[in-house]
Amino acid sequence: MLPIGPYTLKNRYILAPMAGVSEMPFRVLAFQQGAALCPTELISAQGLFRINSRTLRYLRFDKQVEQPYSLQLFGGEPEVMAKAAVIAKEYGAQIIDINMGCPVKKVTKTGAGSGLMCDPARAGEVVRQIKAATGLPVTVKIRSGWDANQKNFLQMADVLGAAGVAALAMHARTRAQGYSGKADWSLIADLKRHVGNAFPIIGNGDVKTVEDAARMVETTGCDYVMIGRAALGNPWLFRQLLGGEKPTNEERCEVVQRHFRQHMVFSAEARVHREELPPEQRARKDEQQGVHSFRSHLGWYAHGLHGASAFRARINHADTKKDVEDALEQFFLGANTDENPVEGSEQELDYRTALG
Ligand SMILES: Cc1cc2nc3c(=O)[nH]c(=O)nc-3n(C[C@H](O)[C@H](O)[C@H](O)COP(=O)(O)O)c2cc1C
Repeated sequence: MLPIGPYTLKNRYILAPMAGVSEMPFRVLAFQQGAALCPTELISAQGLFRINSRTLRYLRFDKQVEQPYSLQLFGGEPEVMAKAAVIAKEYGAQIIDINMGCPVKKVTKTGAGSGLMCDPARAGEVVRQIKAATGLPVTVKIRSGWDANQKNFLQMADVLGAAGVAALAMHARTRAQGYSGKADWSLIADLKRHVGNAFPIIGNGDVKTVEDAARMVETTGCDYVMIGRAALGNPWLFRQLLGGEKPTNEERCEVVQRHFRQHMVFSAEARVHREELPPEQRARKDEQQGVHSFRSHLGWYAHGLHGASAFRARINHADTKKDVEDALEQFFLGANTDENPVEGSEQELDYRTALG
């Protein structure tokens, strides 16, 4: 397996960066289940200059587990990106990943995210300046192009390769496609054939199972496989990719409990309080917000299990830590796989609002 900069990863499976999901507690869980790399969600380069507690939330990582620590930046200006990367390095980043795939208009209209695919020269400059300013390996995540008429991923690979990119991940859909249709893996094969062993290629898009991952490697020759949505509520997928078992009910329950506890600590520490509140009210508000922001994870963990929709309904009314702890223990310890799971509309919704 080709190394990423100086890092030889323990296997080829990478957790995709996912906004609102790839926070420290979930990344740690994925690492513990076997993922070899778990980049942060996208972090604004501009935001890094105004370091406040909200931005710090994104920068926090677990030094013991998260090795190497890859931090994803988005922004359109090479100079700003380089300065932000220097700050990220001071906070511990070992790899800087650049988001060149985000389709959201607010991001692309500033020339960032997939907007950089419309200006390959500037994209190359971003990599060059970050490398020069930090000396860190710089990886990039792209889509296959802006739209069906501009699938310029090979040109991007040339420009980024010349700038010294350490690895290139491609979500094999265009920006215009969003999440519709199927990821076109033949484009990943084209990319790998084009680049050869100059730097590693990370294939991404629609890997849902162990078999999919094997098929992606086999049919495209990609060096690494990046998995996003299929890992939601299923960090054990990484273990299964390495030949491990599905979790038992007891293990699933224990891991969800642990994730919830870590999420509560993480989210309380990172809370931005706009108004001055007495300590008791503040603690109450922290608890409520922590509980609410964990709902989507609980929905994903329950997906495919018998009674998932009743469980989701219960969780949507939960307000306290105790409400969630009681509900999740009751549900996950007795869980049975649903023979006919109703496709979770909640999950679909989150996919549609996704950023990358
Ligand atoms: C909820 C969600 C948030 C995402 N946020 C990011 C992000 O912050 N940065 C990024 O590069 N891609 C982001 N993506 C895109 C994923 O990294 C990945 O490219 C995409 O989901 C396709 O892979 P998959 O089919 O394995 O899910 C996000 C996707 C989802 C579903």
